[in-house]
Amino acid sequence: MTMDIARARAETPGVDHVAHFNNAGSSLMPGCVLDAQVDHLTLEASIGGYEAADREAERIDNVYTSIARLIGAHRDEIAVVENATVGWDMAFYALPFAEGDRILTAEAEYAANFVAYLQVAKRTGVRVEIIPSAPTGETSPEALENMIDERVKLISVTHVPTNGGLVNPVEEIGRIARRNGITYIIDACQSVGQMPMDMERIQCDVLSATGRKYLRGPRGVGFVYVRKALLKTLEPPFIDLRSSTWVAPERYELSPDGRRFENWENNYAAKLGLGAAVDYALSWDLAEIEARVTRLAETLRRELAAISGATVWDTGQKKCGIVTFTVEGTDPREAKNRLGGQNINVSVSNPSSTLLDATARRLPPVIRASVHYFNSEEELDRLLAAVSTLAG
Ligand SMILES: Cc1ncc(COP(=O)(O)O)c(C=O)c1O
Repeated sequence: MTMDIARARAETPGVDHVAHFNNAGSSLMPGCVLDAQVDHLTLEASIGGYEAADREAERIDNVYTSIARLIGAHRDEIAVVENATVGWDMAFYALPFAEGDRILTAEAEYAANFVAYLQVAKRTGVRVEIIPSAPTGETSPEALENMIDERVKLISVTHVPTNGGLVNPVEEIGRIARRNGITYIIDACQSVGQMPMDMERIQCDVLSATGRKYLRGPRGVGFVYVRKALLKTLEPPFIDLRSSTWVAPERYELSPDGRRFENWENNYAAKLGLGAAVDYALSWDLAEIEARVTRLAETLRRELAAISGATVWDTGQKKCGIVTFTVEGTDPREAKNRLGGQNINVSVSNPSSTLLDATARRLPPVIRASVHYFNSEEELDRLLAAVSTLAG
């Protein structure tokens, strides 16, 4: 079955205004996601914030069930938090490390994760080591296999880096982590919503994601999955009266489920918007979303490469919807502004967001055009025509 793109576009109000190729930044929300938030804000304004949450308690609770369905997990393994980074941090900083332990990570690791490794290294004396990439660009499972010993306490990789179309082989890495009993974290911020995800297949222990990117949800909300067996052993880096209960003057009890990584006050409109976005993604076929996104991105890379002065920078045996390129003689920020002037949205990816990969590949700041399934072939043509006028 092919996707009904006319329907997808009719359900996306933003396509009337912009050709949006910043889905890796923050995608265009479908109308139902906008409605879920506006309806809740309207209810809060009409009857009071706490009262609105009480009235919508069941729908709010269902958000966990929806996320669990999306990633093939149990609802008790999910925490809904402010963004992907907070979710990732809550799990990572809860892990016990000792001097001499090794953390193995990917070359194209995201800056927010890497600085956290460095901070923990400073505090505890763990060693942070990079798993070499294969010649095609992705993290090499063979190289990882050769690094394993009893001091490796964590394997932590970004599934799809922020700065290119690369897709890391998370299942192969998962098999190695599981076989050796090593905790495994995936930053899936750029992959959830653009491809099917299944926690049993991938075999990770922790996975973080955000609302606003390929899931097409609101800003300021994200989630983290923590496998039940690990969750029960983790003491979060900070707690409050949602993550725990003060049961006696000198004792507290942590929530037995994902709530132990949450805090009490949160944006219920955004949470409902996230639930609506997940349900909307599930109303499509994630494998078809991936196939269309991959096809559009491949076309874009091929056509960009044919433009005189344009260079495409993406690596990876398997690639996704993020396309990065430069145009000779044109500053990427200036290019972004000029395209924006024609209602074409792209973004700029700076080397500091993936410093090791950018240094190894001598990457300059690059233009990032990230496609989603609702982008049309006509929009692709508009982008390509506009890019061909940028050179020189
Ligand atoms: C790979 C990757 N990880 C993590 C993040 C951080 O997500 P958030 O801003 O929701 O914390 C981003 C954001 O761009 C990202 O690209």
